Amino acid sequence: MSLREHAALFACPKCQAASLAVDASSFHCASCGQSFLVDDEIPQLFWPNQWEAGKSDVTEQVRSFYEETPFPNYDEFDSVASLAEKARTGIFARLLDEQVPPGVRIIECGSGTAQLSNFLSLANRNVFATDLCMNSLRLGRDFARRHQLARVHFVQMNLFRPAFQPESFHLVISNGVLHHTSDPFLAFRSISRLVKPGGYILVGLYHRYGRLVTDARRALFRLSGDRFQALDPNLRREQSSDAKKQAWFADQYKHPHESKHTIGETLRWLDAVGFRFVKSLPISKPFRSFADDEKLFAPDEPGNALERLLVELGMIASGSREGGFFIVIGQKPPAG
Ligand SMILES: C[S@@+](CC[C@H](N)C(=O)[O-])C[C@H]1O[C@@H](n2cnc3c(N)ncnc32)[C@H](O)[C@@H]1O
Repeated sequence: MSLREHAALFACPKCQAASLAVDASSFHCASCGQSFLVDDEIPQLFWPNQWEAGKSDVTEQVRSFYEETPFPNYDEFDSVASLAEKARTGIFARLLDEQVPPGVRIIECGSGTAQLSNFLSLANRNVFATDLCMNSLRLGRDFARRHQLARVHFVQMNLFRPAFQPESFHLVISNGVLHHTSDPFLAFRSISRLVKPGGYILVGLYHRYGRLVTDARRALFRLSGDRFQALDPNLRREQSSDAKKQAWFADQYKHPHESKHTIGETLRWLDAVGFRFVKSLPISKPFRSFADDEKLFAPDEPGNALERLLVELGMIASGSREGGFFIVIGQKPPAG
């Protein structure tokens, strides 16, 4: 399915007008006159932030970092079968695949090399993989081309300046991204506008406590000139390619900018944009583990501050394995 068939979804990232003429070689805004190139099927709809003077902006720094080390990268032997197999070993991607129906429209904001977008498109979902970084998008596109995945599209976009009209997507995913921006709440607010009424937002963020072991390893690597890398389970994994390991090492230990968050903080974000809390991973109540067949979109109670603290302290140990992430899902109220 070509991008032209989705032309009605796009908006100009510069002026926000819904008047982008979509062509195979360029996009043009009839309202502000701005043109955007298309680089071998990837529209370059990046527009910079225009924040007040003095507000820090790490976008360029982060873009150059990932242009050098696209994340998470692919293993040399990746095929559709191995992509699906690997994705399904992660509980979260497997549950998404089982529970997000075919036919829905998904955007991934900060897709990196787009493993998740490519995977989710296998079951006839229309998926837009968007990122700042062209090299990451090219790797994702090349994989999709090689394996003839027709329902995934790649768009260069700054999530603070979306190139899509508001309320265009049933599901907005941003996993491991907002903590690499200068203003994670502003970023959250920006992508929440893309959710259709009744649709969902899913964000994965570094956790304040979940990240402590990684912080300690980073300090050790710095002091030892990057020795003892085998302390990180992902760097010990024999099945991973060198490129993938390098991408992990750079992303986890050499990143120019990251912030850390808590479930309570994301509850305030959801409140501020008028969404309701649906689910978190880990589950935000003590002694309730995330089931193998957890219903991702069945609403949970968020737990009180003490309950959440107990769960979050447990992340000090669990975070050491997978980078100290937590995931929160919220829902925009249905229309009417
Ligand atoms: C750690 S990677 C995560 C990639 C992917 N979501 C995953 O889970 O494997 C973070 C990605 O966020 C992208 N990113 C950071 N700031 C962004 C922004 N303002 N707009 C769009 N993408 C952004 C980076 O280019 C990078 O590819």
